[in-house]
Amino acid sequence: MPVVRPAAGAIARRLPRGGRDNETNHTLKHFIFVLTGAGVSADSGIVTFRGAGGLWEGYKIEDVATPMAWKRDPALVWRFYQMRRAQLPAVQPNDAHRALARLEIEVRASGHGFALVTQNVDNLHERAGSRPVHMHGELARFLCEQCGLSHGDLTDFRTDAFRPCPKCKFPRVRPDIVWFGEVPYRMDFISEALASTTIFISIGTSGAVDPAAGFLKEARSRGARTIVHSLDEPGNLSSRDEFLPGNASEVVPRLVDDLLRSLS
Ligand SMILES: NC(=O)c1ccc[n+]([C@@H]2O[C@H](COP(=O)([O-])OP(=O)(O)OC[C@H]3O[C@@H](n4cnc5c(N)ncnc54)[C@H](O)[C@@H]3O)[C@@H](O)[C@H]2O)c1
Ligand SMILES: [Zn+2]
Repeated sequence: MPVVRPAAGAIARRLPRGGRDNETNHTLKHFIFVLTGAGVSADSGIVTFRGAGGLWEGYKIEDVATPMAWKRDPALVWRFYQMRRAQLPAVQPNDAHRALARLEIEVRASGHGFALVTQNVDNLHERAGSRPVHMHGELARFLCEQCGLSHGDLTDFRTDAFRPCPKCKFPRVRPDIVWFGEVPYRMDFISEALASTTIFISIGTSGAVDPAAGFLKEARSRGARTIVHSLDEPGNLSSRDEFLPGNASEVVPRLVDDLLRSLS
């Protein structure tokens, strides 16, 4: 199974996206940082990729999730992401997504800091009421490599027709997904949030994809309480972490109840 990590010196092609969210504030009593991965959406019926022998829906990662793949065979990459996009209207947030939305609202209302950073490219966190930072991009958006426009669109799931950029008319926009070898979104925000974190919670991620895999260690080394939930023990787990195994839709609501009790 390939453990694909972004190459050193990966190209910084990402353009800042304005707008949303999640201020860090060093004077708050607690700062809760939640990192989620594919496991949080598994109970909604979206498959993880490491569970399936290192393949993602039957495809090798290097064939569909790298800039080289897009250059070599854009039709294959387009088809793959159009199929992933077409799944979105058919799936629903589960109790783990809903519990994390409740955590965000209640933690903010009590004056603590909060950030939800997801590696997921689905839109289930926001549909449950969260305001996630999508560090690996979003299935629901396209990116124009010509003019840099990123735009949201969840219509037209045809797998055999590229789409032009609505602004500059470049004939082929790409999925607004951070591929292996590219730099994730919002790393400045994430570094700042990690520096303030007092409680770090990792949910449903195998700890195999950098740089996200390093956030747990970073929070731990800064003295944060570290809580790790996943079906299987992730590769970056330490004996210092509190490990909660099980299915996200069962474990996360209980975890959120416990946390909110301990913060009140
Ligand atoms: N839903 C999505 O958006 C989606 C789906 C597949 C892959 N991806 C992409 O692939 C990369 C995968 O890395 P990753 O670490 O997020 O996922 P991964 O596939 O490498 O690991 C999945 C993790 O989830 C756990 N898990 C599986 N079922 C679970 C369940 N029901 N409840 C709780 N945990 C469960 C596994 O034990 C494992 O630790 C990410 O970068 C992501 O962008 C995204
Ligand atoms: Zn354009």
